[in-house]
Amino acid sequence: MQVASYLPNRNLALELVRVTEAAAISAAREQGRGDKHLVDQAAVDAMRAVLSRTDLDGIVVIGEGEKDEAPMLYNGERVGNGNPPQVDVAVDPVDGTRLTAEGKGGALAVIALAEKGSMYAPGSLVYMDKIAVGEEAAGTIDIDAPVLHNLKQVGKAVGKEINELTVVILERPRNNDYIRQVREAGARISLIADGDIQGAITTAIRGNGIDLMLGIGGSPEAVTTACAMAALRGEIQCKLWPRDDVERTYAREHGHDLNRVLTTKDLVDSDNTFFAATGVTTGALLRGVRFGGIHTSTHSVIMRSESGTVRFIEADHRVEWVEGAIKP
Ligand code: FBP
Repeated sequence: MQVASYLPNRNLALELVRVTEAAAISAAREQGRGDKHLVDQAAVDAMRAVLSRTDLDGIVVIGEGEKDEAPMLYNGERVGNGNPPQVDVAVDPVDGTRLTAEGKGGALAVIALAEKGSMYAPGSLVYMDKIAVGEEAAGTIDIDAPVLHNLKQVGKAVGKEINELTVVILERPRNNDYIRQVREAGARISLIADGDIQGAITTAIRGNGIDLMLGIGGSPEAVTTACAMAALRGEIQCKLWPRDDVERTYAREHGHDLNRVLTTKDLVDSDNTFFAATGVTTGALLRGVRFGGIHTSTHSVIMRSESGTVRFIEADHRVEWVEGAIKP
């Protein structure tokens, strides 16, 4: 009997969850203090510390910093302890730094991995126009089509009338036209202040009541989201969204086609993606960090694309152990 062929191969997401748990706990310590840099720094330090002891040889392709000048896990940084496998890494130590700093819900600590060379690098083009749906509606949407068309397609796919659909949109002036079109079509809206990784993922995990995400958000978040969508069998389509002529020139000079529709596969060209997220503050998908006397509790979701398995993980961490693990 060839036992080896029956053994499951390594699921890096099971190890990555320790990275996001550490980042979430550190970030949550700074919740509500009004300082988003403090939140980010705490998460970055914890992520780095745990990653440095994780068996992988990674290059950060999607790091923090281009837009926010955040303390970085910068693009090009090598992470992991140098042992195989070689991977591309996308990090968002806290997606929702402002939410955490203001003591609001919906922030996640996030990391995603995929095979080396598979992740799309948007460079200095920090925004993308996005549309995302879950598995039932995958293959039916078109970012270039009018909003009404996409709502009809999604409605047909999930078996709902348009007025029963809920669209999650990042609340920004640049997304006002989406909000207007969705309202005119008669669908419901869930506006989020920040955190469109969580927004997109909720379209693809049953029970959240979200059918579609629309709107312009961060480019790094789009690539990270694609790693999750590959596992969830959902779909994200994006287009680079330059803010001004400087970014348009940058796009031209760096070979980025602004008319190109970037599919899930274009954002991460891999059949082997891994994704882990831990709630920092409580949101639609995950509960935030809860500090107890003896235990600190976390709630995470992990997934990988090869198997399509999605796991939710509740963990109670002994306080002294967590403090030790987070030390650089
Ligand atoms: P950070 O917390 O990592 O800064 O991102 C929060 C976020 O809301 C993302 O989810 C979203 O993609 C992006 O910011 C939108 O950018 P902006 O806040 O500049 O509109």
